[in-house]
Amino acid sequence: MSAIVNINGRICAEHEAVVSVFDHGFLFGEGVYEVLRTYHQQPFLFEPHQRRLRESAQRIGLEVPLSDAEMLARIRATIDTLGIPGEVYVRILLTRGVGEFSYDPAVCRTPTLVIIVKPFTPPPAHIYERGVTIALVDVVRNHPRSVDPRIKSNNLLNNALAAQQALARGAFEALMRNYRGEIAECSQSNFFLVREGEVLTPPLEAGLLAGITRAFVFELGKELHVSVREAVLRDEDLATASEAFITSTTKEIVPVVKVDERVIGDGVPGPVTRRLLAAFREHASALAASAPRM
Ligand code: PDD
Repeated sequence: MSAIVNINGRICAEHEAVVSVFDHGFLFGEGVYEVLRTYHQQPFLFEPHQRRLRESAQRIGLEVPLSDAEMLARIRATIDTLGIPGEVYVRILLTRGVGEFSYDPAVCRTPTLVIIVKPFTPPPAHIYERGVTIALVDVVRNHPRSVDPRIKSNNLLNNALAAQQALARGAFEALMRNYRGEIAECSQSNFFLVREGEVLTPPLEAGLLAGITRAFVFELGKELHVSVREAVLRDEDLATASEAFITSTTKEIVPVVKVDERVIGDGVPGPVTRRLLAAFREHASALAASAPRM
């Protein structure tokens, strides 16, 4: 993998990157994270990622111990140590820290802040050209009053179990319903469909992560004069969709051409999805190129 890791400000090689087994992130899954990537070697949409990290942390009673500028400087120092010319993947993890076996947050004095930086490997080109098949799984997305899916939690068991089902069926991603049976999101991405030229995605109230790429798609829609709005979606909406796609930081916009045996539209990446993907890439590249070097 050849990653470089920053643990509480100390930069080390992959094989030296260890945290205590008494860290509550390890013991209890008490932690939150973010995933960013660079375009033109610039962390893309850093501010919204940082805002979401603070919100996730706050929802579990943790505080991000660095200002945005300090976090960016730490990310930059880690990227510089990796020292590769291409794009990088950045994973920020913040856990409760080391403490006694107790759920009392007071037993952990200092949170653990880890930044993992590694070369970014883009998904293969064929998934954008031909689209992917996803699986509608029977693992239900966490109830918002349990582990709220808005928390980008290090505790990813719900997501991992869903993904396992999809992988066993040979699918690219797992699409989950919420406790009400409505479509929520995928194990590592948000879900959209296109119907009568309109782009629809489940509302945040359905219990899902407020994806940064998802929010960017709303912006792109305004620019392309394509209606993008939230709508409660159910299984039957898959039958009337002309297109579908999923979004995430590491995958951008991936066309979905089948959900299990259901063929979406014509079974090929549709025009709305392709326009959004082209616009996404153009903007990501232009925004990064015009940003002051951080
Ligand atoms: N996953 N929903 C879930 C459950 C996710 O884990 C992710 C991102 C998304 C998309 O969010 P964004 O557009 O902000 O990346 C939606 C990241 C990439 C990961 O876990 O690697």
